[in-house]
Amino acid sequence: MKVENLGRESCRIYELGFTICFIADLRFILWPCDFRLGLSKQYHGSATSTIDSVRAWIGWNEESWHAGGPIYNFAIVGEDGKLAGMVEANTDTENMTGLRPGDANVSYNIYPAARGKGHATRAVNLMEHYLAGMGIQRSVLRIDPDNETSLGVPTRLGYHEHDRIPTPDGTTLRMFIKEL
Ligand SMILES: CC(C)(COP(=O)(O)OP(=O)(O)OC[C@H]1O[C@@H](n2cnc3c(N)ncnc32)[C@H](O)[C@@H]1OP(=O)(O)O)[C@@H](O)C(=O)NCCC(=O)NCCS
Repeated sequence: MKVENLGRESCRIYELGFTICFIADLRFILWPCDFRLGLSKQYHGSATSTIDSVRAWIGWNEESWHAGGPIYNFAIVGEDGKLAGMVEANTDTENMTGLRPGDANVSYNIYPAARGKGHATRAVNLMEHYLAGMGIQRSVLRIDPDNETSLGVPTRLGYHEHDRIPTPDGTTLRMFIKEL
């Protein structure tokens, strides 16, 4: 694995042709308009994005990066060189149930066409190395109990399951933790 970390300017971590890189490094890529990874819903209140809303979202992530967090969002680029999805770390532990100082909550989304090839697992693995380099002590994954495909990620990467945590909508999330 190689890490090219230029601080708040650029960061790229790669292994065997598989890469995660600071999301604003991919500004030049034409992202799909039909951006149905849930990100637009989460950040912009609509189910489908436009090129402009995706650019705004990348800019928002860039601001967080330059401010020194709490969001660190990486693009996932598969061995074919194509954008496969995103992996994000959030160190805002005060505002996330179940986390404590020194933790980072890691979340991920893979484009439908790129699923089932290990991209999420490999991306979280590279993210763990980045977080360890930042001095983060624990990587935390909080997953909907019904999301079976996502539950495979902590299992493959050797996470330990901790308490279930309540969400504002009255459901629970399964929480998995790995010491870095
Ligand atoms: C959940 C989600 C991220 C999983 O993405 P993914 O890249 O398919 O997940 P994984 O990395 O676990 O891929 C595992 C599959 O790749 C295969 N694989 C191939 N090469 C692999 C490798 N080098 N390492 C690991 N798995 C590999 C595995 O055998 C497995 O196949 P299977 O599903 O037939 O058993 C994706 O379905 C998604 O984006 N869903 C919508 C958003 C979401 O739910 N996000 C998570 C919120 S917590």
